[in-house]
Amino acid sequence: MSTATAIAHPNIALVKYWGKSDATLNLPETGSLSLTLDVFPTTTTVTLDDALTADTLELDGLPAAGTPLDRVRRFLDLVRAQAGVATHARVVSRNTVPTGAGLASSASGFAALAAAASAAYGLPTDTVSLSRLARRGSGSASRSVLPALAVWHEGDDATSYAEPVTGPEIAMVVATVDAGPKAVSSREAMRRSAATSPYYPAWVTSTRETLEVALEACADDDFTALGRLAETNALRMHAAIQGCEPPVRYLAPASVALFDRVAALRAEGVDVWGTADAGPNVVAVCRPADAGRVADALADLAPVTVALPGPGVRLVEGAE
Ligand code: DP6
Repeated sequence: MSTATAIAHPNIALVKYWGKSDATLNLPETGSLSLTLDVFPTTTTVTLDDALTADTLELDGLPAAGTPLDRVRRFLDLVRAQAGVATHARVVSRNTVPTGAGLASSASGFAALAAAASAAYGLPTDTVSLSRLARRGSGSASRSVLPALAVWHEGDDATSYAEPVTGPEIAMVVATVDAGPKAVSSREAMRRSAATSPYYPAWVTSTRETLEVALEACADDDFTALGRLAETNALRMHAAIQGCEPPVRYLAPASVALFDRVAALRAEGVDVWGTADAGPNVVAVCRPADAGRVADALADLAPVTVALPGPGVRLVEGAE
């Protein structure tokens, strides 16, 4: 019986992915740039089993059904088609990131699943192949295949994958406003933004420009420029989201208070910038030397976790 286990970490985008040019191939409308973190890993084991008539999924110790199971089954159908193997699999996955809270558990989840499934089904496990495959499960997962800073290219099925980027030293202080699942999934809100938000075309145009400038800031080792671009880009994404019909708003009062606190710290001379994904949690982007001070300054508003650049996906010995 073929089995493999992989570990992957979430990533937080500095230049966001928000919108698809192809929903089937999961191609992004624009490229994006992110930092893979060293906290909240997901560990996933895939075990092929001839006795199964359908794939099974155990998520954090409980049998999963509904959307999570459907997404895993569709993903494994793709893996089986590529591998030319019909056998179904048991998938056991353990998250340490609050699922559905805007901390992109789908990124670590599908990066780990891509690696474990590729190894178990005999597909290539090089970084480019894994990033391309992980993209099909969840776009942001293409970046969690890589360690630390990674750029995920827009393009076609063959060329849309993530690659490493060299840049400044960065820490992220994750402020968890709400660990519960969100009311509107990022996938639905992304679709709705493209279909209904009058600000969406401007989001696409400005993000393409921002990514180019952000990559220059990385090449120049310019933390301040990168941080400023990241905060602007995140708020522009939320502006595009807030133009949806029917309405979607992810930022809560506590999120706004966190952005204000980040701005106050900046006024005190700390080089720190805010970002937020599709949820109320806020991530403060700072230099590693300032992470303790930033965490202390945010801690009365929300529970905080200090994160540094983390590893890319890796296969490990032994099943769960
Ligand atoms: C706001 O990667 O979860 O975190 O491809 O539909 O699975 P799907 O979307 P997903 O979206 C992440 C959106 C984001 C921004 C980002 O990570 O770049």
